[in-house]
Amino acid sequence: MEWKIIFVFCVVSFSYLPRTSADNERVQVLTVATEETDGFRRFMRTANKYQLNVKVLGLGEKWEGGNMAMSTGGGQKVMLLRKALEELKDEKDLVVMFVDSYDLIFTAGEKEILQAFNKFNAKVVFSAEDFCWPDRRLESQYPIVRMTEKRYLNSGGFIGLVAELYDLVTRGDVKAADDDQLFYTKLFLDEQLRAKLSVKLDTRGEIFQNLNGALEEVTLKFKGSSGYLYNSRTGTSPLVIHGNGPIKVQFNSLTNYLADQWTPTAGCQSCKEDTIDLEGIKPEDFPRVMMGIFFEEKTPFADVFFENIAQLTYPKDKIDIIIHYADEFHKRHVERFVKAHQSEYRSVVIFSPAKQLTEGTARNRALEACLKHSCLYYLAIDGAVQLENNRTLQMLIERNRSVIAPMVLRPGKLWSNFWGSIGKDGYYKRSEDYIDLVESKRKGIWNVPHITNIYMIQAFRIPSILGAYVDPEVDPDIAICARLREKDIFLYIDNQQYYGHLVNTENFDTTHLHNDLYQIFDNRYTWDKKYVHPEYKRALAADTVNPQPCPDVYWFPMVTPKFCQDYIDEMENFGKWSGGKNQDERLAGGYENVPTVDIHTNQIGWEKHWLHFLKEYIVPLNAKVFTGYYSEARAIMNFVVRYRPGEQDRLRPHHDSSTFTINIALNTHMDDYEGGGPRFLRYDCAVAGTRRGWMLMHPGRLTHFHEGMPVTKGTRYIMVSFVDP
Ligand SMILES: *[C@@H]1O[C@H](CO)[C@@H](O)[C@H](O)[C@H]1NC(C)=O
Ligand SMILES: *[C@@H]1O[C@H](CO)[C@@H](O)[C@H](O)[C@H]1NC(C)=O
Repeated sequence: MEWKIIFVFCVVSFSYLPRTSADNERVQVLTVATEETDGFRRFMRTANKYQLNVKVLGLGEKWEGGNMAMSTGGGQKVMLLRKALEELKDEKDLVVMFVDSYDLIFTAGEKEILQAFNKFNAKVVFSAEDFCWPDRRLESQYPIVRMTEKRYLNSGGFIGLVAELYDLVTRGDVKAADDDQLFYTKLFLDEQLRAKLSVKLDTRGEIFQNLNGALEEVTLKFKGSSGYLYNSRTGTSPLVIHGNGPIKVQFNSLTNYLADQWTPTAGCQSCKEDTIDLEGIKPEDFPRVMMGIFFEEKTPFADVFFENIAQLTYPKDKIDIIIHYADEFHKRHVERFVKAHQSEYRSVVIFSPAKQLTEGTARNRALEACLKHSCLYYLAIDGAVQLENNRTLQMLIERNRSVIAPMVLRPGKLWSNFWGSIGKDGYYKRSEDYIDLVESKRKGIWNVPHITNIYMIQAFRIPSILGAYVDPEVDPDIAICARLREKDIFLYIDNQQYYGHLVNTENFDTTHLHNDLYQIFDNRYTWDKKYVHPEYKRALAADTVNPQPCPDVYWFPMVTPKFCQDYIDEMENFGKWSGGKNQDERLAGGYENVPTVDIHTNQIGWEKHWLHFLKEYIVPLNAKVFTGYYSEARAIMNFVVRYRPGEQDRLRPHHDSSTFTINIALNTHMDDYEGGGPRFLRYDCAVAGTRRGWMLMHPGRLTHFHEGMPVTKGTRYIMVSFVDP
């Protein structure tokens, strides 16, 4: 069941033989909707777009027509139509179109509809499909049609002159729970009546396209800035599209494009419609938001997660928070956040592992709490979401959609927080447009069948989904999305903006003190943001002149203060500093010529991480300033040195066994220590005030004979690596 998008840039002309008809014919659309579902709103959007005159029957009335999604029903629709036609039946030149609304859209206006209708030379035209429903035994009574045509009546759409339509619809008895399609089928199959009232089926889809069983026949096309559907079996471009039957997911996906919601030339045309503007609203008048924060598995960068939450520019006294964390590992992150910010929020409630709530129950509680706190919006967010856009809450509210998720991805991957389609098994299926959406080649707000990790729900939708997260058969996110779809509540994904990204939670090793430090492979993007100096990229740029405090000693901004602190902590936590003696069993030769008090990166399990950092971040700098040298990023000696008075405070003059040496200052001169810094004897040049997070790079073996000057107070830490020994 896939549909394809083809771009054609030609004008399709509709040729027809006009039926003798009055020039001032007009169309009155009638539909039945007892609730303003999202499907109904979509219907109205398209009706308004094509300026169709719509009268809605039954709004606010109790639906007694049965559960039509599950079985038959719909007699109530016939009864409502009879009543409405009663009032209209004597109007001159009136053509009435009766259609479903929850799963139907228009892709054309009155003029095209009338032209297509008049071509039939009929007084009443019903839509047609390939299935004889609800009574297959009636199949043989239908007139024979060609292979390319549809044989059986579908009552989701029909059109007729008002007098004949009234005549037809008022024949026979009908009760609310009767099946409307069966009712119309029987009338149609009455040959005499059919001839008398001139009733035909739209067997070629000139007006109506019922999509059930026909998805493979249709193709989405664009001409100029509008989109339409082309049926390659019937050779027509139908005007009214009906997503009948069990194909709602595919239909919703198609409607992202039809009726010009999105087109290749004009982009998203529906994104700006029905939106709310919070601009100029006083902070005290902002709507109340309930935020449910869920750490259901051990997740890296939890501290950054909470920093992001704290940085949201939404008035905090309008936000209530519930935090559920399933593993004690996150206790420290949660407590740190709560301690620092609790008093700023309206309320903060924590569900710790001691409460023994399942994920589903915790999520259900958050929904209930939203109603209890009279929130207007509920935002669910998982620990894996790094929410970097601090206006996210405002923007999601302003979109004014029942359920909307900001798109977030694992950087550089196709892994996102939504599914474009759903397979028969109820799980992920890639849609035709998935990659274009993930890569933001098409930007807009997209109706999708499944979202997760972060989304906002308008509170008035919550009563119909209470309790929905718990389902013994499936995971909470599958369960909630299924319920939302079942309630005809649309799930949207918004990829118009950058909101943030997803971290990879797989194989998260939590055996270290600062586990994020070890995430350079699994979460490079997030790691980079946390640990790489914000000016690093500029330092690397070809047109940036890098400072040289001494000849051929280059100075680069390399890592953040957070890196420095985490790295020192990790070393001190390990604690097995070498004695600074020549005998060193950590070395292959067992002997160190110029010993320091140090810990090697491999002793804290960070060697391969360091070598990766060296290769990815440091070697490019080397290539920039030492033109023509191509480093192998080979380094055997990688270590943190600790200098302090009373232990080892200095290092005697020496050469390094390296082609080049790098030396990152991990703490701050004059704050953390006094004295220290390298001195290059050949040039009689010292770098006394090294800067935290900055790296010195100099040749190792010949020209840069150097010493470490004495630290006179405090403790100085440096990271040293001998590259290409
Ligand atoms: C928000 O959406 C609802 C439902 O579509 C609509 O009735 C309402 O007018 C919208 N709000 C604004 C300010 O457009
Ligand atoms: C929000 O983000 C903008 C743009 O990144 C930044 O300039 C601003 O300082 C941030 N505000 C807060 C409160 O963090």
